[in-house]
Amino acid sequence: MAILPIVQYPAPVLAETAKPVADITEEIRTLAADMAETMYDAPGVGLAAPQIDRSIRLVTIDVSEEKNHLITMINPEIIATGEEKDTGEEGCLSLPGIYEKVNRFTEVTVRYQDLEGKTIEMEADGLLAICIQHELDHLDGKVFVDHLSQLKRNRACTKLRKLRQQATKDNQ
Ligand code: NI
Repeated sequence: MAILPIVQYPAPVLAETAKPVADITEEIRTLAADMAETMYDAPGVGLAAPQIDRSIRLVTIDVSEEKNHLITMINPEIIATGEEKDTGEEGCLSLPGIYEKVNRFTEVTVRYQDLEGKTIEMEADGLLAICIQHELDHLDGKVFVDHLSQLKRNRACTKLRKLRQQATKDNQ
């Protein structure tokens, strides 16, 4: 297992549409394990393969308090949503320090393959539903600030630049 470097916004890979995983090989299983380790180390509640510079449809999620409920989704798709939406604050490991309110469905049904290739359908609500929508966005080349108005996105990007400049200074 290994902790992988997390790609930072606005890297081009974060704007690409990720390719389906054709075969669940040993390499994919190792990558999924490394992604989980990277996610727990960050720490974060979700990580999508484009964030570790692999443009494939693979995500890891764990929204549990005890960090003992890892979900690995291969080729996930949202096949149904509830009718309600709600607005909550989100962050992303590719935009550290940026938190903005995003409007999402409160309930989703997701279909994916697990690491054994079994097709799973799962209904989710709460934080898990939000996290699924956030991570699946990454597979379609979208980050959470893309949901914001141009003005708010610009403001978030300016803040991100300032945070990075500060971090560089602090390291000197
Ligand atoms: Ni993210």
